[in-house]
Amino acid sequence: MSEWQKTGWRNKPRIQMPDYTDATALNAVEAQLSNYPPLVFAGEARRLKKHLGAAARGEAFLLQGGDCAESFEQFSADGIRDTFKVMLQMAMVLTHGAKVPVIKVGRMAGQFAKPRSAPTEVIDGVELPSYRGDIINELDFTSEARIPDPAKMLQAYTQAAATLNLLRAFSTGGYADVHQVHAWTLGFTESEEAERYREVANRISDTLDFMKAAGVNQDTAHTLQSVEFYTSHESLLLEYEQALTRRDSTSGNWLAGSGHLIWIGDRTRQPDGAHVEFARGVLNPIGLKCGPSMTSDDLRLLMARLNPNNEQGRLTLIARFGAGKVAEHLPRLIQTVREEGAEVVWVCDPMHGNTIKSSSGYKTRPFESVLREVREFFGIHAAEGTVPGGVHFEMTGQDVTECTGGVQAVSDEDLSDRYHTACDPRLNASQSLELAFLVAEELSALRNTRLDRVAG
Ligand code: PEP
Ligand code: CO
Repeated sequence: MSEWQKTGWRNKPRIQMPDYTDATALNAVEAQLSNYPPLVFAGEARRLKKHLGAAARGEAFLLQGGDCAESFEQFSADGIRDTFKVMLQMAMVLTHGAKVPVIKVGRMAGQFAKPRSAPTEVIDGVELPSYRGDIINELDFTSEARIPDPAKMLQAYTQAAATLNLLRAFSTGGYADVHQVHAWTLGFTESEEAERYREVANRISDTLDFMKAAGVNQDTAHTLQSVEFYTSHESLLLEYEQALTRRDSTSGNWLAGSGHLIWIGDRTRQPDGAHVEFARGVLNPIGLKCGPSMTSDDLRLLMARLNPNNEQGRLTLIARFGAGKVAEHLPRLIQTVREEGAEVVWVCDPMHGNTIKSSSGYKTRPFESVLREVREFFGIHAAEGTVPGGVHFEMTGQDVTECTGGVQAVSDEDLSDRYHTACDPRLNASQSLELAFLVAEELSALRNTRLDRVAG
């Protein structure tokens, strides 16, 4: 087989990508981006892969979360900080329940391009091309706004670079020090979750005091002072991905320099399509969304193509079937993985199979369905004796009203209050934390079963 080329995807069928009309402008943007520094480095991607390998064995757990679509207009330091903060809180709750390290990966610093269910959108009899994310066109419903503009790739790169810069500062500059476990609640709306979180934080503080007394402190245990935080996005706009692909000087392998983990969406995972062709050649950990239409034959082909050396941590299967449908689809795909002896990390995305239109006309997700899918995912893995390796959420640190339900009981009528998403509805801070508690309970039950087995 001839060597993989970063341009190879151009010879494959491409779907869900814009047809840029101005080829000269497109080429100029691609040339410019190709000269910019990559946003992430090969050593970081390899390290994340190693952590994901641990998640495959049940020795770590992946928490992946962030916006459905990052937005140019809503870009702000506070927004990044708040989502980062809620993820730290969720990670604390999960670590406390699971007693394993939590791998934190944001849908951030590159999550700009969106696949759409229809190429056009009709409002009041007017038909226009669909909005495809800020890196491609604009949300406004005018024909001008919907024209794909290659220059938006440069703005997306700049925003991603600034986001990553802030995330790196938050991760290592003292903000994420575990001794701040209480400070992360500041500015939190009072809720049952906030109270439950405070209890966990108290226990952690106690443990830290004990450790300090026993001689373990910040100076002797550096890992307490900082966190590793990784970035991820859907690898959809391949012109952007290709332009940021670089050869790693230590291994000679190719790196997608746009983010640590990239995933292939449920709509663009054709084994012979452009998106699979691009992803198979880069060294990054790869995610693969698996919806109800994923056949065993496709999965077999995809695993062979995306992870030919069966490397642990390379391939994460992100199951998104919808509440009530997990039992129909997950066991058959687990069976395929088993037959192939394939190394994968199983992750649950309880968002994308549970989107409905509310009676008030908004796209929403009932929190109950989200919870139910998570429970079903854990239940199937317990029955199959396989490892639930992580969760994947669309969430924000902002107090939005986009998903219905939760302890604060967002109703259909409330959706219009603070509905800010540029694409799919996200969990707000309180719903995210509530979900983390549920996942922590599942993980802690799993751990107890394992311990019982060892003891028995
Ligand atoms: C997404 O993660 O935003 C998305 C579009 O997911 P999926 O490909 O699973 O529909
Ligand atoms: Co989405």
